[in-house]
Amino acid sequence: MKNTISFFLNGTLKEIQVNAETTVLELLRNSLELNGIKEGCGEGDCGACTVVIGEVRDGKVHYKSAAGCLYLAAKLEGKHVITIEGLAEKEKLHPIQEAILKAHATQCGFCTPGVSLSILALYLERKNPTKEEFRRYLEGNLCRCTGYVSIRKVPEYLKELMVCSEDIRLKYLSETEEKQMNFIQEDIYADDGIHGFYSPVSEANLLEFLQNHPEFTEGNIRFLNGGSDVVVGIKKHGQHYRLLVDLSRIETLHKISVNKKSITLGGGVSLARMIDSVQDIFPEFSDTVLKMCSEQMRSIATVAGNIANASPVADTVPLLMAVDAILTINGPRGLRAIPVREFFKGYKKLAKQEEEWISAITIPLGEYNFIHFEKVSKRREVDISSVNSAIALKVENGIIKTAHVASGGVGATTLYMRNTSGFLRGREMKEETFSEAYETIAAEATPIGDVRGSAEYRKAVLQNLLMKHYLAYESSQEVDGHEA
Ligand SMILES: Cc1cc2nc3c(=O)[nH]c(=O)nc-3n(C[C@H](O)[C@H](O)[C@H](O)COP(=O)(O)OP(=O)(O)OC[C@H]3O[C@@H](n4cnc5c(N)ncnc54)[C@H](O)[C@@H]3O)c2cc1C
Ligand code: FES
Ligand code: FES
Repeated sequence: MKNTISFFLNGTLKEIQVNAETTVLELLRNSLELNGIKEGCGEGDCGACTVVIGEVRDGKVHYKSAAGCLYLAAKLEGKHVITIEGLAEKEKLHPIQEAILKAHATQCGFCTPGVSLSILALYLERKNPTKEEFRRYLEGNLCRCTGYVSIRKVPEYLKELMVCSEDIRLKYLSETEEKQMNFIQEDIYADDGIHGFYSPVSEANLLEFLQNHPEFTEGNIRFLNGGSDVVVGIKKHGQHYRLLVDLSRIETLHKISVNKKSITLGGGVSLARMIDSVQDIFPEFSDTVLKMCSEQMRSIATVAGNIANASPVADTVPLLMAVDAILTINGPRGLRAIPVREFFKGYKKLAKQEEEWISAITIPLGEYNFIHFEKVSKRREVDISSVNSAIALKVENGIIKTAHVASGGVGATTLYMRNTSGFLRGREMKEETFSEAYETIAAEATPIGDVRGSAEYRKAVLQNLLMKHYLAYESSQEVDGHEA
């Protein structure tokens, strides 16, 4: 067990003291005096604080962009942080910086370090990125002066500047990757009596730790995964914890297994990895997650965190409820399974104890012939839902044999719409069936009004989303203007 953190910074090994609440942004700017990283919003919305993080996964170092304002420095053990200071070699600019200049994609320069590092993460991870991938990686980088047209031109200039894809790799990457591959991971625990931080490398170690520390129980322990919710709570809402338990270094929680009948995601799988891994077998889930946050957030935020945060507008939950996904819960009481539909007991109240964690999420496959998710938010990207809804249907010969509807933003938790699902079952798959279900779904919803919308507005949106599910079904049946 260690009480310090060792990580690589632009190819150089660093050792730091554990401070449970210090972010990478604070570490770089305040302690290490690397001021290239910028602070804009401080809550994951603008991309000014983007860094690239290299970490070992499946026997290889993978790179991702991450929001430094929400990434706790204590999670960096064995990782490689690349900042804007690590790009140029003395006076020679990196090809990405050169391409940004040629594309006139920088003016005041405030967003430019973040933009450069988002592009670097993209090119390190995907050799020949498509336009869509460029858009996906850059959607979280706000620029207030240059305009996105010039930023979108960067890949054209980069193509001209690069002789081969290896030109993108920084000189120190190979050597650092070798050191990372040989890095021995062990538990980390540090406690100053006010804020403690524990980061185990296995679920067995975590269980043993909890047994040996009965003082950390209900009310004073908080699991941390990506931290995209927890760190916003710490930094913006003054929510502090006696002990943060980092689940993100537990290797078994990063497993993704797929077979014909189901997908199982470990409780540490990030939204970004999930998108790439299930795109071909469960595109509806990938599409749902692509509508959430931005790449530098999706690369750290997890599916389990989205569920356990228990937000009534969590975007993965309606879909997981609709398809009847099952959670595997682990902890001092042992392993047990809980359907997502039964996991929420009230506002932020879960059917698990504080010291139990989501070890896996199992999603059944092949039971439905139409699955669809819709969200309404104030802007299309990087915004949480006002109301969201998912449906899973089995339709045979124009009759709805199976129907499951779940919706968020219309109650204290995401709601499985039992009555609406029952109403649809056995009826004809036609527009009238869905408009006839309006009253039932409105009666099942219990919204309250807030800044995102009044209770009446939320009910009206919910009814419209139900109809949108039907319209999406109808258009999925049309191929080139003909019935499929
Ligand atoms: C800028 C921004 C944009 C966002 N956009 C969206 C959006 O569009 N849609 C949306 O739904 N959400 C959105 N979110 C919310 C957030 O990103 C997601 O809820 C995310 O999936 C949380 O995952 P995490 O790993 O970061 O959770 P963390 O912050 O690490 O944890 C969240 C909660 O879950 C618990 N937890 C985490 N993992 C486990 C586990 N394995 N077992 C038990 N408990 C666990 C933690 O204790 C904590 O209570 C956004 C957040 C930000 C900051
Ligand atoms: S400072 Fe805006 S995303 Fe981090
Ligand atoms: S160049 Fe000024 S914010 Fe992008």
